[in-house]
Amino acid sequence: MTMKALRFHEYGEPDVLVVENVPRPTPDSHAVLVKVAASSFNPADVALRSGAFAEMLPLDLPHTLGMDVAGTVVDVGAQVTGTAVGDHVIAFLSPDMTGAAAEYVVVPESLLARAPSSIPLPDSAAFPSTAITAWQALFEHGRLQSGQRVLVCGAGSVVGSYAVQLAVSAGANVIAYAGPGSIDRVAGYGASAVIDYSAQAVASAVPPLVDLVVNFAPSTVEELAPLVRDGGRLVSGSTPVDGARSEITAIRMAAHPDAERLAWLVDEVDAGRLALNISDRRPLEEATAVHSSRERGKTLLIPN
Ligand SMILES: NC(=O)c1ccc[n+]([C@@H]2O[C@H](COP(=O)([O-])OP(=O)(O)OC[C@H]3O[C@@H](n4cnc5c(N)ncnc54)[C@H](OP(=O)(O)O)[C@@H]3O)[C@@H](O)[C@H]2O)c1
Repeated sequence: MTMKALRFHEYGEPDVLVVENVPRPTPDSHAVLVKVAASSFNPADVALRSGAFAEMLPLDLPHTLGMDVAGTVVDVGAQVTGTAVGDHVIAFLSPDMTGAAAEYVVVPESLLARAPSSIPLPDSAAFPSTAITAWQALFEHGRLQSGQRVLVCGAGSVVGSYAVQLAVSAGANVIAYAGPGSIDRVAGYGASAVIDYSAQAVASAVPPLVDLVVNFAPSTVEELAPLVRDGGRLVSGSTPVDGARSEITAIRMAAHPDAERLAWLVDEVDAGRLALNISDRRPLEEATAVHSSRERGKTLLIPN
């Protein structure tokens, strides 16, 4: 049996992306086969496709994109115990794995979480990798605690939007740095201050010093490191942190799958504490256009 998959055979511009028929995979003993309801586009897909990550993360080409998946389990391996055919599941797949921008994907049971029950199944592909990135930035690398002051730089981005909400829920005092098109939405998440990046440079907008900066924007270490108090932390998911002053801890992070944390995030979604930011739903066949013209918010990729 075959299925459709979004792949590229060589690194390059968006037109290297093709939707083609490939053999439908079968799960090994510790994995399940998921019929994909949706995957999603992430900025990292551009770097994977173009070859910008090739030295750091060489791929076996052709490669199927899609780090986020929401779907229904249709087959289980012999050693799978906690998941059954018919379950609605989500997962964050490592970028070097065969991805979920396809009709079916094999997912190790260790990466699965149940899908939220409060939103449509395809919409559940909007948060696994991005919300986990936000959580790891704030709490794993940033060690954020209740009462601390955190600057979320790039608060209008998908990851930044989750970071603002997770930090507010944790009792932090959140300063959000976002674009004019995002100000109202980000303010609605409960940030104590929202600063418009088109009106004010971050350096002049954020006195006094903060305990933590998390960065998901093009802002540089030169702009951000001086805003952190001595002993505080700068965590960047977007730009390098080389050259940060020695009085702070500066980390260039790379998110990693964490099914336990993903299950916790599902509960946050179902409890209404984590709002999604879905801007578009596109068929797999339009992936070249998605890669060519970036939209604000999360674009879901639907395989039919
Ligand atoms: N290292 C990791 O593990 C990891 C994981 C996931 C993502 N990331 C990175 O995190 C970043 C955000 O990812 P995403 O998926 O959330 O992407 P995204 O939603 O597509 O990010 C685009 C948004 O960034 C905001 N932005 C652009 N320029 C800005 C500036 N100068 N100041 C503040 N905000 C600015 C814009 O927000 P407005 O709408 O407010 O203008 C825009 O909507 C990307 O660089 C991505 O590569 C890293």
